[in-house]
Amino acid sequence: MLMTDPHGAPGIELLRQIFSSRYRLSKGLIERAEAAFGSQWSADFERLIVSMFETDDQLIAAAKGYTAFAFDSMRRQKAFEATHEYPSKTYAEAAKEVYFNADHMVNEYLPGLLLSHYLWPHHYRQIQFFDMAFLAPMARSSSKVFAEVGIGTAAYSRRVLEQIPLAHGRGYDISPSSCRYAERHVDAIGAMDRYAVLCQDIIAEPIEPVQWLICVEVLEHLEDPIGFLRTLHKAVAPGGRAFITAAVNAAHADHIYLYRHAQEVERHLIEAGFLVEQSFVATAFAPPEPTVPVPVAAAFVVCTGKS
Ligand SMILES: C[S@@+](CC[C@H](N)C(=O)[O-])C[C@H]1O[C@@H](n2cnc3c(N)ncnc32)[C@H](O)[C@@H]1O
Repeated sequence: MLMTDPHGAPGIELLRQIFSSRYRLSKGLIERAEAAFGSQWSADFERLIVSMFETDDQLIAAAKGYTAFAFDSMRRQKAFEATHEYPSKTYAEAAKEVYFNADHMVNEYLPGLLLSHYLWPHHYRQIQFFDMAFLAPMARSSSKVFAEVGIGTAAYSRRVLEQIPLAHGRGYDISPSSCRYAERHVDAIGAMDRYAVLCQDIIAEPIEPVQWLICVEVLEHLEDPIGFLRTLHKAVAPGGRAFITAAVNAAHADHIYLYRHAQEVERHLIEAGFLVEQSFVATAFAPPEPTVPVPVAAAFVVCTGKS
């Protein structure tokens, strides 16, 4: 029987035990994140676990899904290290294989992605940058309306809704599975009265401009990221800000546009009409040798320049 820790962070403790007893590939991840990020991370991750996984079985299923997701990514990254290319795949092929594959989305992709936001150091550092460079100024601003495009797990919308009680917004995604998962996540923190999830392709149906726009890890999923960024540019109201990120040198089943450097993402943002105010780059780990490509999180706070 799994033992919980009644004093500290019982959800994290349970996940640690699940990883070490059942999914040894993921063993040690929690200890590493705790050592790197300390009590702030523990409180943050505990809140996520407790709200999203009410039963032991739900947490076991998430741990299993995360481990399958991470193993698949590691396998693809190994191949990428040899070829320095992502396998050629169209957006339609990736969408069919991943976003419209409900079984994969619900059991592996979405729980995998959600836990990765806390367990992968470069992902959690990106969250810390988001809190400092986007969330804090949004909390101080008079406008509390936001939108997230490619909402996926709703991890970022959650932070806005949780930390800014007057915030209200919308999340857009093309995947019905992502939309349902995001709804479940927002509902789990009791914020559905301040949020709407729309299953919508924002290129086909442009969205109302907002002061605060979030788009995390979508660009590398697209054939034409600059065209997508031009649409995002129109979705930021004058004087508004956007938080836009991309995964660089990170092989996943649905990564089809290969960014080799964070500067390429920045060039795309500028080409689409954005002005870059702040940027953040973090590698997943130090490369074993300088020539080995390593996953990088690249994040930017941008404005439209119309203010
Ligand atoms: C890596 S996930 C995004 C992660 C998410 N932002 C999070 O923090 O969990 C990519 C998401 O982008 C969505 N997506 C892909 N193409 C899209 C498009 N054209 N418009 C909106 N969402 C899209 C996918 O369905 C998927 O949910």
